Amino acid sequence: MEEKKKYSRTLVTTALPYANGPVHIGHLAGVYVPADIYVRYLRLKGEDVLMIGGSDEHGVPITIKAQKEGVTPQDIVDRYHKIIKDSMAGLGISFDVYSRTTSEMHRRTASDFFKTLYDKGEFVEKMSKQFYDEEADQWLADRYITGTCPHCGNEHAYGDQCEACGTSLNATDLINPRSAITGNVPVLKETKHWYMPLDKWEPRLRQWILEEHKEWKTNVYGQCKSWLDAGLQPRAVTRDLNWGIPVPIEGAEGKVLYVWFDAPIGYISNTKELRPDDWEKYWKAPDTRIIHFIGKDNIVFHCLIFPAMLMAEGSYQLPENVPANEFLNLEGDKISTSRNWAVWLNEYLEDFPGKQDVLRYVLTANAPETKDNDFTWKDFQDRNNNELVAILGNFVNRAIVLTNKYFDGVIPEAHELTDYDRATIEEFKGVKDALSQALDTFHFRAALAEAMKLARIGNKYLADTEPWKLAKTDMPRVETIMNLALQITANLAIAFEPFLPFSAEKLRAMINMDSVLWDKLGDIDILKAGDRVEKPVLLFEKIDDETIKVQTDRLERIKQENILKNFQPKAVAPTVSFDDFQKLDIRVGKVLNCEKVKKADKLLKFTIDDGMKGRTIVSGIAKFYQPEDLIGKEVCFIANFAPRTLKGVESQGMILSAEDADGRLVVIGPHGEVRPGVQVG
Ligand code: 2FM
Ligand code: ZN
Repeated sequence: MEEKKKYSRTLVTTALPYANGPVHIGHLAGVYVPADIYVRYLRLKGEDVLMIGGSDEHGVPITIKAQKEGVTPQDIVDRYHKIIKDSMAGLGISFDVYSRTTSEMHRRTASDFFKTLYDKGEFVEKMSKQFYDEEADQWLADRYITGTCPHCGNEHAYGDQCEACGTSLNATDLINPRSAITGNVPVLKETKHWYMPLDKWEPRLRQWILEEHKEWKTNVYGQCKSWLDAGLQPRAVTRDLNWGIPVPIEGAEGKVLYVWFDAPIGYISNTKELRPDDWEKYWKAPDTRIIHFIGKDNIVFHCLIFPAMLMAEGSYQLPENVPANEFLNLEGDKISTSRNWAVWLNEYLEDFPGKQDVLRYVLTANAPETKDNDFTWKDFQDRNNNELVAILGNFVNRAIVLTNKYFDGVIPEAHELTDYDRATIEEFKGVKDALSQALDTFHFRAALAEAMKLARIGNKYLADTEPWKLAKTDMPRVETIMNLALQITANLAIAFEPFLPFSAEKLRAMINMDSVLWDKLGDIDILKAGDRVEKPVLLFEKIDDETIKVQTDRLERIKQENILKNFQPKAVAPTVSFDDFQKLDIRVGKVLNCEKVKKADKLLKFTIDDGMKGRTIVSGIAKFYQPEDLIGKEVCFIANFAPRTLKGVESQGMILSAEDADGRLVVIGPHGEVRPGVQVG
């Protein structure tokens, strides 16, 4: 794709993560790794680029976390801002600035922005009804209200969403709403808020996205189109909350800016913090290109609401592209901070020291660019062992080892090239265009595959030319081969620098290469004959099954904990009389025999000693037991069920069982010795 406009500088923003938890692989794959690859690539091309990041420290998720822990919101954001900032640096995410939305610079910038729009008459003031907790003397954000979901009956739904059925809700939809703070019934009270009239900006947003940015990723374009087609509604940009940036106008005491109003302005504040003197050109000059890296849940805010705010302000450039990614799942389940279902970056860095690039590699190779994808530890291990170690590491190691072996570490001269050499050179020269094209259009997976292709070309070249066989007979030929192999190695140091910066640095050190320029990619004279390479250092090492098992065991433990935590007993059934109870004849029996029912994989056939003449009972628990394990056990059964025939076997009763934490059925029996046939009651 051709560049549409000439530009002189690029401002790359990365979604500001909420400082209510550490960052996890979902954030990394969706936003920070691709953004970092892109920025490193532009830097290698010598372009003027800034990478802006920071923590999003306002909003209800932070206050809820604080309340749960009995600390202040400031305590929470201080703790996680540090964890996030340090771990991102640990992974080599090369922010030019990583600041926070509780900074004074940000408060002032967001406040002024609001004031400018207010003074220009860009807001609409509206009264609305909102829940209020009279005992706590506090307005209740939707998340602070719980009640019964009108869709599925879950009694623990939140005012903004029911986590059982996934439906988005308004707090006023809930049946029996309760304040999550005191448990009291909240009252509805009138409150005033300021709204962005998005409907006013709809025609311009339509033209700008749907007509002028048809090149945006289809997932982004499609989501914008469906919002626009549904018609945009005014959105409140203020909240009744005691954590946030105060609304800077009279009559707004106790109100703060909505977190989604202030957070994107954080990009501006952080640019100002980084470049106090010339920040404006990165936001306002027409030859600046702004790119927002975000996850798909942020599309509406970055493509519609924030641009509408910028249009209303009037002096800012709109983003040139918003390459949003889909979601990354973990071992088949949605990543979730509250359920602790994640691979946390800070923990990864502790568990896998020196293996930052392995994670960067796997998250890029498997990036959720066009659809949701799954991270599994098995795939992590396989990609490390079969790709990084076996292809990239192997080639580099061979090139350096052979140079040390045959030439004592001195880079040999290339002599006459064969047709095969020339074909190899042609092939790897092609990589540069393909790689640049993929990076320019935000196709990071494809770009990584191109870089890997270069390593494959190198491996094939050494395997086909077999310099180790020629060493005794044709040293000049070995010199040419090794010169070319080392030039490919130098190319790898350039091609992989955006993706695997730690390994690229090690590689550069091994071949004493001190400058990396994208321009040089594809060249075969990067290293000079007569210069030296160092002794080989392994770039990657195999990851064994034990190491992976530690991680999968941890996830298994978390799964168990969540099942226990989330278990909610069903509501108790309507009251019955003792007479009703007595209608059921429940007894203790001893299992004399137990076997699988033929052609029915779910059924077990029990022969029960019932103290009388014995009976047969068929039960659907074959998945959970080996039949022989049940022989000799005492079980409870219902003795007066009408007989029914299952797969040709007549069942005379029902064995009682209950579900365990894994969803497996466990048979129920007495805890002491009880004679078969005795009634339970
Ligand atoms: O979804 C989130 O995690 C938000 N904190 C992202 C904010 S992006 C930007 F606007 F700052
Ligand atoms: Zn529901």
